[in-house]
Amino acid sequence: MPELRTRPVRQAALADGEALAELDRATWSTLHAVQPRPQPPYDPFFGAGHRPADFLVAEAENADGEAVVAGYIRLVAPTPLACNAHVRQIQGLAVADWARGRGLGRNLLRASFAEARRQGANRITLRVLGHNTPARALYAAEGFAVEGVLPGEFFLHGRYVDDVLMGRSLTL
Ligand SMILES: CC(C)(COP(=O)(O)OP(=O)(O)OC[C@H]1O[C@@H](n2cnc3c(N)ncnc32)[C@H](O)[C@@H]1OP(=O)(O)O)[C@@H](O)C(=O)NCCC(=O)NCCS
Repeated sequence: MPELRTRPVRQAALADGEALAELDRATWSTLHAVQPRPQPPYDPFFGAGHRPADFLVAEAENADGEAVVAGYIRLVAPTPLACNAHVRQIQGLAVADWARGRGLGRNLLRASFAEARRQGANRITLRVLGHNTPARALYAAEGFAVEGVLPGEFFLHGRYVDDVLMGRSLTL
């Protein structure tokens, strides 16, 4: 596998919108998507509930040494409730096909842990489709445990698919 020079994970900026939208469309797959494949005209990437402040971005260098967007993670409060304010939830994670298997997904996850702690959270959760083996392996390797399963929660492409709830403490 050719070497990939990566940059430190950073907060997203409004100017990342087009690159993130392209990445999102390019990485659409039946493995993780619960929405149909996007069709033009495309919605803007950022909008209400999708603020740059909710996203962390991973970059890698292209052949000219320029940083290009290679992945992102979206970290939000699962609800607006004060009694739930100690929890953050990952609601989006994607790494470009050409950058996979080089640790960017792991870097993004770890950066989201740091960001969630910075925001005062002591717990982090996510939902993943039962058949998404790569993502489930990544989450398990980074300390997430299965905390619940909604069997056959989604009917996708002719099959019922489980919704798997995972979580981990941020105090460890
Ligand atoms: C899941 C995803 C983010 C992983 O990104 P990545 O940058 O390739 O992952 P990493 O290189 O950081 O891998 C870290 C660990 O994850 C696991 N992993 C990653 N890809 C895997 C695969 N294809 N099969 C099995 N395990 C895998 C391994 O445990 C790996 O550790 P190792 O390299 O020490 O064996 C990427 O495949 C992706 O964007 N998938 C499509 C979108 C998606 O499914 N998002 C999650 C929605 S819940």
